[in-house]
Amino acid sequence: MADAAEFHDRMLSLGLARVSEAAALASARLIGRGDEKAADQAAVDAMRNQLNLLEIQGVVVIGEGERDEAPMLYIGEEVGTGEGPEVDIALDPLEGTTLTAKDMPNALAVIAMGPRGSMLHAPDTYMDKLAIGPGFRTGVVTMDMSPAERVSSLAAAKGCSTGDITVCVLERPRHEEMIAEIRTTGAAIRLITDGDVAGVIHCAEPQTGIDMYMGSGGAPEGVLAAAALKCMGGQMYGRLVFRNEDEKGRARKAGITNFDRVYTRDDMVTKDVIFAATGVTDGSILPGIKREPGVLTAETMLMRSKTGSVRRMNYRHPTAFD
Ligand code: FBP
Repeated sequence: MADAAEFHDRMLSLGLARVSEAAALASARLIGRGDEKAADQAAVDAMRNQLNLLEIQGVVVIGEGERDEAPMLYIGEEVGTGEGPEVDIALDPLEGTTLTAKDMPNALAVIAMGPRGSMLHAPDTYMDKLAIGPGFRTGVVTMDMSPAERVSSLAAAKGCSTGDITVCVLERPRHEEMIAEIRTTGAAIRLITDGDVAGVIHCAEPQTGIDMYMGSGGAPEGVLAAAALKCMGGQMYGRLVFRNEDEKGRARKAGITNFDRVYTRDDMVTKDVIFAATGVTDGSILPGIKREPGVLTAETMLMRSKTGSVRRMNYRHPTAFD
């Protein structure tokens, strides 16, 4: 029989699903309304309220920003009832604020929880990211390889041609050279306008058709993606990118001294974690919130790295009780 800690861990994971679910539901009425800030605020408020009901002594390590920038769910904020296990929390109440405001695919509410000290305190800078799904030998792709070399190496490992590989990339001017180089291999590129947590998760979900994720995006999102891949399997690498001294200062404040370090998935997430994501807008890994008269429906993916379990939960929420 499972011991008490294990039982608690399993029960807490169900509680965590309610947290991402609440954030997604709260942003539902703002999907496609062109107001990113309002959508984000609704998700933040709901996530914070629900998180504070959990019996944990939680500290936000990846959150809405530093204390002077974010009034709620800031880095260092204590959350939960103050009873129960000491845990670290990484969250993004609305990953894809623009996607939500424009009703575009793959906006998610995401949260990960692990024991104290389990997740990298990533500063609010960019991170160069590289990810593939499970089933490959370690190092089949590395940060040192060029984008074209990564495609060739992954194709060889998969036993397919480079033309059969699909790479997911954030569509940004800073990625133009990388995109041009990937194109020389004949690989397909799935360009996304936002939402690289979903972009990385895609690699571990064969039905999305994506084999590899690469390019730079938010470092906090990098840690959340690493937490998801720790549960699903797959490799991920990240290197912080600094554009100025202020960003290096943020990293120093977070205790980072080696600015060139390449973090593996398990460097970013060192212990077993629980991860929950709820779909806000329709996407390849989760359907979005469905609105019908009197009812909202949400789907949540709940995963535990300890067991590799992936649970999908469908929730019908009668709006009469709001
Ligand atoms: P928000 O939800 O905070 O708008 O972030 C969306 C996002 O696309 C992330 O998924 C990604 O990591 C980051 O923004 C990329 O940053 P930028 O838009 O500056 O390239």
